[in-house]
Amino acid sequence: MSEPEGRISLEGRVAIVTGAGGGLGRSHALALARRGAAVVVNDIGGSVDGRNRSDAAERVAVEIRDAGGRAVSNTGSVASQADAQVITDTALEHFGRIDIAVSNAGIIRNGPYTAYTEADFRDILGVHLFGSFFVTQAAYRPMKEQGYGRVVFTTSGSALYGQPDSPGYCAAKMGVVGLMNSLAVEGRDHGVLANAIAPIAYTRMTAEAFGPAMEQRTRPELVSELVAYLASEQSTVTQRIIEVGAGTYARVFLGRAEGVSLDPATDIDAEKIGEHMNAILATSRFETPDDVMQMLAGVLDVPFEYGGAHLSDV
Ligand code: NAI
Repeated sequence: MSEPEGRISLEGRVAIVTGAGGGLGRSHALALARRGAAVVVNDIGGSVDGRNRSDAAERVAVEIRDAGGRAVSNTGSVASQADAQVITDTALEHFGRIDIAVSNAGIIRNGPYTAYTEADFRDILGVHLFGSFFVTQAAYRPMKEQGYGRVVFTTSGSALYGQPDSPGYCAAKMGVVGLMNSLAVEGRDHGVLANAIAPIAYTRMTAEAFGPAMEQRTRPELVSELVAYLASEQSTVTQRIIEVGAGTYARVFLGRAEGVSLDPATDIDAEKIGEHMNAILATSRFETPDDVMQMLAGVLDVPFEYGGAHLSDV
């Protein structure tokens, strides 16, 4: 299943892909395996709302093995910390190491903000946010120890830009961006790179909204090739959000606008702030700090380093 010379190879690497029993996850697992990675195919095999169970994970593992690749299945739920640990343990037991973690498992529970239930909110955060944390925490420990790892999170345009009737989904997927930022900053001294993709793909999750005309144009394989790149040794990309779908690949970023800097020794009231609102909101000039220390250094005009100056010293 290895690729011709000159192509990105994942030979000798070991990956876990969550939610890989169908849709994007299956496509990611196949793409990584095609390039030589051994893959733990995780999936509860549930319906799109996260209910029910099936052997979807094993079917994809068989598909990979039939094509000459290396794969084992795992049916644990990422929403359980114990199950998530088993996904990494499975990689270590079967393949001896772990290099790549793709956190992809997801469910949908839609409903208006006014009527969204606590149960749905907890369930959706459980899979997307807690699940992403549990899976990547378990994977990061051995990655940190070996000084090498590639982590790909899955966020969503719904969270990044807004979508009605999905407070749980939007909150969870924005939380995933926070996890990615946290892990990327921690991991950069340990050879562990972390990024988040915001995919656009025709799967059972989007089939109804997209319609059949989009099936080929937004096929998951177009997303999975980016995942393969981010999962490779060749990639040096970290702490980035990349929107990907229909052949488009684009960084999405949080920019800090230039804003206005008023003298803090003077009285600054709501009226004065209101006068400056256009300049505060203008995005014509902005920067993209690599971490919060860089942001603070910019705002407070003092050098900041981890373990160095504290806010109270300034
Ligand atoms: P999908 O429904 O085909 O795949 C999600 C998979 O996750 C399913 O196979 C499901 O059984 C599995 N899963 C659900 N809960 C799980 C749990 N607790 N533990 C393990 N596996 C679990 O949908 P799709 O489109 O492939 O979604 C993949 C990811 O991409 C999700 O995180 C989704 O939110 C995200 N996404 C997809 C977009 C799209 O255009 N398809 C857009 C933006 C984000």
